[in-house]
Amino acid sequence: MRNLIVKYLEDHIEDLSYEEINDVLEIPPKTDMGDYAFPCFALAKSYKKAPHIIAQEIAQDFKAVDFIEKTQPMGPYINFFVSKEKYAQLIIEDYKNTQMYGQSNIGANKSIVIDYSSPNIAKKFHIGHLRTTIIGNALYNIFNMLGYKSVGINHLGDWGTQFGKLIVAYKKWGNKDKVLENGIDELTSIYVKFHDEAEKNPELEDEAREWFVKMELGNEEALELWKWFKEISLNEFERVYKMLNIEFDSYAGESFYIDKAEGVIEEINSKGILESSEGAKVVNLDEYDMPPCLITKKDGSSLYATRDIAAAMYRKKTYDFHKCLYVTGLEQKLHFSQWFKVIEKMGHQWSKDLEHVPYGLVRMEEGKLSSRKGNVILVEDLLNQSTDKTKAIIEEKNPHLDNKENVAKQIGVGAIIFNDLYNSRIKDVVFSWDKVLNFDGETGPYVQYTHTRAASVLSKANYEFNKDDEVDYGLYTEASTFALLKEINKFPQVIIDSANKLEPYLISRYVVDLAQAFNKFYHDNQIIVEDNKVKNARLLLVYMVKDIIKSGLGLIGIEAPEKM
Ligand code: ARG
Repeated sequence: MRNLIVKYLEDHIEDLSYEEINDVLEIPPKTDMGDYAFPCFALAKSYKKAPHIIAQEIAQDFKAVDFIEKTQPMGPYINFFVSKEKYAQLIIEDYKNTQMYGQSNIGANKSIVIDYSSPNIAKKFHIGHLRTTIIGNALYNIFNMLGYKSVGINHLGDWGTQFGKLIVAYKKWGNKDKVLENGIDELTSIYVKFHDEAEKNPELEDEAREWFVKMELGNEEALELWKWFKEISLNEFERVYKMLNIEFDSYAGESFYIDKAEGVIEEINSKGILESSEGAKVVNLDEYDMPPCLITKKDGSSLYATRDIAAAMYRKKTYDFHKCLYVTGLEQKLHFSQWFKVIEKMGHQWSKDLEHVPYGLVRMEEGKLSSRKGNVILVEDLLNQSTDKTKAIIEEKNPHLDNKENVAKQIGVGAIIFNDLYNSRIKDVVFSWDKVLNFDGETGPYVQYTHTRAASVLSKANYEFNKDDEVDYGLYTEASTFALLKEINKFPQVIIDSANKLEPYLISRYVVDLAQAFNKFYHDNQIIVEDNKVKNARLLLVYMVKDIIKSGLGLIGIEAPEKM
């Protein structure tokens, strides 16, 4: 419909191109202002008149067509009221003509590298890494839906001085059986011990540094231990990823770039931008008002930024990305700004395609989650708790449901994901169980519940979708029905917007709006009625809603159960 309106306007207005009209054409906030509104500001120059006068004048020029019922000037706007019947036809045909509604090929032949989750090994997977995991996964799905080739990379934090410390700690206080039994818990506890001891005995720090240098030089004993720590960590992380239904295309973490770092350092040097500073090597960033970016330490070992630079070079070569995204907390903003500038100073045009995608903190209602106080919240515990709480709700509301375990997991995990993606990334998430698991609020369970409601109507009616079934488009003009169709029609654009803004919450908001529009329609219209034509017209709508809720939830990484 939008296309039609824009083309129609283009035919009537000589001074503006299709793109110019498309850019300004608005959807009015209220239905009594029509379905589309064209602001006349852009014409003020060529007409040499005030926009509201232009609106008055040219509104008369718009000849009646089958898809426009009424044209009306209003202030500086011209409002268009579309023919509901024609509009219904366009939307439904559009739906029927796509394999998967909302899918497109605007990203064909372009790859988007997304670096997300990326926890540090030998540490518990705590709630701090939940957001990057969820946001990254959503972006991954969203870009794929638009025809891009998403490449999901888990840039594991598996290299750095901390492993020197862990090796020292293990050699001094470690116990193999305990590590085998308690996994990361045990590693964490000896790591904490290291810090306590090092306060009394600073030589431990030197020892740790030496072990890290050994690691960098390929010492067998050091690498053997490190590999083992990594395996243990991955086992635990994978449990969480499985609960979240998340997979990665690559687990190339920081250690993968050690042998590539040297060449990169040489390249930086050859560009004449590497400077010595108290024994370390840095790239000066004074001109950007940033502290220098550290490239090598005094002892020659690499740093977090060095490995990121090497990784970016490798990714450009391997995936020739259109964009490379880094989903991390806001506190790493400076880190990314710094090394993006180093790549730019190295003369790489594509530095502009690197983008940091930051997000805010997760806080419990009572206050900030703190790891220092020891009350870290582990993702696995959180997901399990949510699933258990959901199970209790199911026991109470629908005790005879089949497959209770699995449904509880779909709802419990979905609720956590949804809560995380309900606001713009940068906002802090305030976590409260009452809100997360409220089946009537703007929540994951509410949307999932709406999906099951649609599923149950369809199964009661034994409905089967057939693309070629005839539909009477005149049956969609009732207010809540038409409003629902318009909501359906927004889906493709919402996906595009969420990709452009890197904001999965647009999808979450959308599925809530769609669910609400559906529930209004469902309340106002009986679906399974005598008249077959009417019944089928309504069932088709129910079918479309169910399908779109399912894909919308799928995009943000949430499952849609058939029953709950
Ligand atoms: N491991 C880091 C952390 O836990 C996140 C890594 C993000 N990705 C990157 N390429 N730097 O904070």
